[in-house]
Amino acid sequence: MKQKALAVFKNIINKKSTDIFIQESKTTELKKTLNIFDLLILGVSAVVGTGIFTIIGSAIIGGSDGAGAGTAVVISMLIAATASLFSALAYSEIAAMIPVAGSAYTFTYATMGEFMAWMVGWVLMLEYAIGNITVATAWTGYLTQLLKGFSHVLPPFVTNFPLWLRNDFRSMYAICDKYGWDVHDKMPFIQLPFGIEIPVAINIPAIFIVLVLTILLIKGVKESTRVAGIMVFVNLSIIISFVLVGSKYVAPENWVPFAPNGIEGILAGTFIIFFAYIGFDAISTAAEETKNPQKDLPIAIIGTLVLCTILYVSVALVLTGIVPLNNIDTQAPLAHAMRLIGKNWYAGAISVGALCALTSVLLVYQLGTTRIFYAIARDNFLPKNIMKVHPKFKTPHIITWISGLIVIIGSLFMDLNISAELCNYGTFASFVIICIEVLILRKTEPDRPRPFKVPFCPLFPILGIIMCSCFMIYKSLKGGDSSLYFLLWIIMGLAIYIAYGYKNKRYYENKNE
Ligand code: ALA
Repeated sequence: MKQKALAVFKNIINKKSTDIFIQESKTTELKKTLNIFDLLILGVSAVVGTGIFTIIGSAIIGGSDGAGAGTAVVISMLIAATASLFSALAYSEIAAMIPVAGSAYTFTYATMGEFMAWMVGWVLMLEYAIGNITVATAWTGYLTQLLKGFSHVLPPFVTNFPLWLRNDFRSMYAICDKYGWDVHDKMPFIQLPFGIEIPVAINIPAIFIVLVLTILLIKGVKESTRVAGIMVFVNLSIIISFVLVGSKYVAPENWVPFAPNGIEGILAGTFIIFFAYIGFDAISTAAEETKNPQKDLPIAIIGTLVLCTILYVSVALVLTGIVPLNNIDTQAPLAHAMRLIGKNWYAGAISVGALCALTSVLLVYQLGTTRIFYAIARDNFLPKNIMKVHPKFKTPHIITWISGLIVIIGSLFMDLNISAELCNYGTFASFVIICIEVLILRKTEPDRPRPFKVPFCPLFPILGIIMCSCFMIYKSLKGGDSSLYFLLWIIMGLAIYIAYGYKNKRYYENKNE
């Protein structure tokens, strides 16, 4: 009995050596086409999106479970950026050292063994796939906004989407409350045992955009990043023009009080606005398709983070300078600010920019999901035949379809706010792991060449671990559905590993049975 337990333990901490990963990446069938410019586009297009166009409003005036940060959202942004920076440096060191697909999953396998690797891969699914559900939902929201702007020329069935078309369930319940409607008359529900019922949104715009992007991704990564490049250009132009146009209308008295809810508000704001920083690690998931990963990955990751922080802080200062706190909108705060100063034309342009930004986030996240699936299936945690590469386009088409379908199905059931919070949990967890891994690898593989090293190690990774863990603990103590769902997700991952993943042999090792 004791021996069996020992064997199981040995199996689950079985590591896959860094050399095997690097060897595999050399024989990979994926094309190596991405350069530093492509990576920067990939980074900015993964990061700039729902966070700055939508979620910033809730970070300022308060989300579901607490007071907001007010103008001090800029402090929240700097805290979120600092936590991300520690993790970004850690990502850079490992991604340049082990330039293979699969992000934190791969790195964990090399440092902590198969069980932790699988769990990290499973948590990364939260970040990528569930994050994408949030973005797809926000996409529907901005499309609605844009179409409403054309209500004088378009027929009413196009501009007045029925409630069952969207899955911002919280606002749907609020609308029904306001007008005294029975929500069951407005939405289909799935009835489960114990009286549990789940609302279903027939989210047609989200389904449409995810299908288009899935086909695009199958056609090729290079082609997809080219599309992302155009989107990034449009949305960066829109954000910069918001700052330039809006700065003329800033009334500094709107910045007072600076932090209306003190530290509590700043922390709550940080948890929410963190969503705006998620995504730079998507760059490292494309390591296998990068021409010169050693040099380009760290530059692209850190460059993305610095650029986004400058943009976000500028947007926050202008937004809170134009709009009094009690008047900040949570659905489309930037467009609303432009309308307040009489720039209706800009308000429309911002909706277009937001749609571009969300589209590129969707694209990059789906790319990330497929690459993580690919890495996990290669190690036999999922059936290997889903890895098949398309004979003509050389992309993993079956996995790309699976990840698209997950987002489509999720966007029928999941509430926007809960999926955003779940995504934050997944990201914080993967950041903690990546910082731990830097510390482990410095001990276990001190001589392996590191084209990039985290400065002030071990201080920076330790600070990263402390900051990200504190945010997870803070949020869990505050309670809410997302903490419970996060726990359920972890239990599901555990069950799949026990039922399937553990039993499969990895071809490069001898299991201790
Ligand atoms: N950072 C990405 C966004 O804001 C996830 O949409």
